Amino acid sequence: MRSPHSSFLIPHPSREGDHAITQRLDGEVVVITGAGRGQGAAEAKLFAEHGARVVLTGVREDEGHAVAKDLGDQGLFLTHDVTDAAGWQQIVSAGLDSFGRIDALVNNAALWRAAPIEEDTEENLQRLLRVNLVGPFLGIQAVVPAKRATGDGGSIVNISSTAGLVGIPGHASYGATKFGLRGLTKSAALDLAQHRIRVNSVHPGAIDTPMVSGVLGVDAGQRDVPNVPLRRIGRPEEVAELVHYLVSDASAYVTGAEFAIDGGSTAQ
Ligand SMILES: NC(=O)c1ccc[n+]([C@@H]2O[C@H](COP(=O)([O-])OP(=O)(O)OC[C@H]3O[C@@H](n4cnc5c(N)ncnc54)[C@H](O)[C@@H]3O)[C@@H](O)[C@H]2O)c1
Repeated sequence: MRSPHSSFLIPHPSREGDHAITQRLDGEVVVITGAGRGQGAAEAKLFAEHGARVVLTGVREDEGHAVAKDLGDQGLFLTHDVTDAAGWQQIVSAGLDSFGRIDALVNNAALWRAAPIEEDTEENLQRLLRVNLVGPFLGIQAVVPAKRATGDGGSIVNISSTAGLVGIPGHASYGATKFGLRGLTKSAALDLAQHRIRVNSVHPGAIDTPMVSGVLGVDAGQRDVPNVPLRRIGRPEEVAELVHYLVSDASAYVTGAEFAIDGGSTAQ
C-alpha cells in the first residue's frame, strides 16, 4: 500500500545499500518528546551537533522554543502533550512538512511522582500510566507509518528507568509504568523488526535534571553518593550519548534490548 506520506519523502543520503557503521546523523530527522529541558534537551543538542534535524515536542512552551531556537534551522518545537492521540498525527505531519522524513523517535517525556504504596492513589497511577506508557504507545503508532514509508528502517528509543528494571521503595506507580514501557519495547521490537525499525529501552538511574535534582539534594558533580557504585549521580549529557548510539546506525544490529545507565546501581 502506498503510504500517505510517500510524496514527502526525501532520500536518505547515507542509507543507499549497506548501512555504514556511523554515529553521524546527517540527513536524519528525530522526534524527541519532553525536549525542553533535562535529558530531552541534551539529546536534541547532541543530535543536532551530529547533523540531525530535531522535532522537539512538549508542554513547556518557553523552554521548548528556547532549545529549538539554539538549534537554528535544525530545530522545530511543537507544543504537544504525549497523551493527545490526534496531536501525534499533527506532529508527524508537521515533521514531514518541515523536514521531509522521520527516522527516529525518542519517547523521553514522563512524570515522576513517588509515594509508598499505602499512600499512593489510583489517580496518580492513572496519570503516570497515561503520560509514561500510553504516550509512548501512541507515539510509536503515529510515527511507524512515516518510518516505514522511507524504507530505511529507523530507531525508537523508550526512556524507562532503573525503576523499570528493579523494585524501588516508594515507586509502585512510577515503576509499573516504567516496567510497562520495557515490555512495550520488547514486543514492539519484535513486531517492527521486519521493517528494520529497531526499538530499545534506556534505564537511567538518578540523573541531575529538574525531575529529581531538587528532591535528591545532590548535584551531578558531587562525590560520595554511597548507594551508587560510581559514587555520583549522572548527567543528562551522559544519557544523551547512549541514546545517540541507539538512534544512530552504529547500533544497527541492536533491538529489543535494555540499557542501564546508572553508575552500576542495578548491578548490586
Ligand atoms: N532524572 C532522573 O533521575 C531519571 C531517572 C530515571 C528515568 N528518568 C526518565 O528520563 C526521562 C527524562 O526525564 P528528565 O530527567 O529529563 O526529567 P524532566 O522532568 O526534566 O523532563 C521530562 C520532560 O517531560 C515533559 N512532560 C511531562 N509530561 C508531559 C506530557 N504529558 N507531554 C509532553 N511532555 C511532558 C516535561 O515537561 C519535561 O520537559 C523521563 O522518561 C524520566 O522518567 C529520569
